[in-house]
Amino acid sequence: MSTTAPVLFCIFGGTGDLSRRKLLPALCRLADEGHLHPRTQVLATGRGELSDDDFRRVVAAALAQTDLPPEAIAAFCDDRLHYQALGQGGVNDFQVLGERLESLENAHDLPSNRVFYLAMPPEAFPPVIEGLGGAGLNQSSGWTRLVVEKPFGRDLASARQLNHLIHRHFKEQQVYRIDHYLGKETVQNLLVFRLSNALIESAWNRDRVGSIQITVSETLGVGSRAGYYDRSGALRDMVQNHLTQLLSLVAMEVPSSFEAEAIRFEKIKVLRNLAPIQCEHVVRGQYTAGEIDGQSMVGYLDEEGVPDGSQTETFLAMRMYVDSWRWQGVPFYLRSGKRMPRKMTQIAVRFRDAPVSFFEKLGCSHDTADVLVITLQPDEGFTLHLDIKVPGTPFRLERIPLSFHYQDRFAAVPEAYQTLLEDVMSGDQTLFVHADEVEESWRVYSPLLESPPQVRPYAAGTWGPPEADRLAIVETELWQGGA
Ligand code: BG6
Repeated sequence: MSTTAPVLFCIFGGTGDLSRRKLLPALCRLADEGHLHPRTQVLATGRGELSDDDFRRVVAAALAQTDLPPEAIAAFCDDRLHYQALGQGGVNDFQVLGERLESLENAHDLPSNRVFYLAMPPEAFPPVIEGLGGAGLNQSSGWTRLVVEKPFGRDLASARQLNHLIHRHFKEQQVYRIDHYLGKETVQNLLVFRLSNALIESAWNRDRVGSIQITVSETLGVGSRAGYYDRSGALRDMVQNHLTQLLSLVAMEVPSSFEAEAIRFEKIKVLRNLAPIQCEHVVRGQYTAGEIDGQSMVGYLDEEGVPDGSQTETFLAMRMYVDSWRWQGVPFYLRSGKRMPRKMTQIAVRFRDAPVSFFEKLGCSHDTADVLVITLQPDEGFTLHLDIKVPGTPFRLERIPLSFHYQDRFAAVPEAYQTLLEDVMSGDQTLFVHADEVEESWRVYSPLLESPPQVRPYAAGTWGPPEADRLAIVETELWQGGA
């Protein structure tokens, strides 16, 4: 059964990479699983002149690379997909777009519920937002929603400017700023894990937790994205958005309800309570040549399109503090890097040691702090590492894992974009980023953007520059070993 109203879903940048790799497959899967209203239509826009049929052929070929069934692809392309050239995006082009929207709505009996999805490079956001507003397409007789992809600005000033422009034409309730990490099932599960398990929540504070480490590592390098990446680096590309969102969800207070507004309110409070970052608590790194899984990798400076002598960081690790009643004095370690030994998103919570080192007296020098490792991807699940007595003599302790793996219990975990697109269509803003939240997170990182510490080399296939080791809190075999 479809859970959403009939919608006209309009993608700006409809022929681009994001649209082909993520949005159209997610929409096709939603249609195939019965989550799109039978009358919902998709209109892609782009610079080039293409007929609907040409566009359908291109999309069908792209979708054929996924595991979507051929009948689902054919039904999606033939029954729902359309294309409109947007020319140079002038006033006339937006009027023509408006006419096309109306004609599709008439043809498919749609109630003027419109989603405008900005899936283009960020420099194209302002003209499209102005174009929509100027042509009166920021409202309709049904509802109109605007979805904005990351990066949302490159610093506090540009994020404010973009918010200001958006708010000239759209109300905040119409705006859906995407951070695709929030759509991941396991990220949403963080809230359930904390708020539905009283045992966990009662230990989720400075009395019980010694430190928390959030790691997002990738084996990928910059690939063909050097043009974008070199202007961003790990701070803008991953930390200001994805890792900061994870930090907010981990550190926030219990919200008054499970409503978007209540959750956003608590997340923003975490950002406001973050203590200024100290430069000596930050390590920036850049990968040099190395090996991952026996394959040679070139260094960042030798990747195609990276300017000579670039000082852009591909790795960032830092220690932060949340100055709140709950977290005062507890270090939060954030780390993210490209060309690391494996892809992994993980939150490791190290609980405080037992008050008395009871077993040390018996010759067990083993560290006894319990560690909870929540793995958000891949091999989603969690492991609580606890001590047990090894049977027999001499008296020995061993740390054993108590684990849960999603794949042992559930078939497939839905793709983040599926969840997020469905939420946009049903009007649920819980998993989207509020204007204030974006600005707060840029504010937190402003000092680092203004005077970034020196960038240090690390070989591809290692866990970052050696200087970052002092920022790790959990024994490497735990956080590198997964759930
Ligand atoms: C994107 C970044 O937002 O997230 C990429 O721009 C990064 O550089 C990607 O590779 C990682 O996403 P995921 O879902 O693969 O962890």
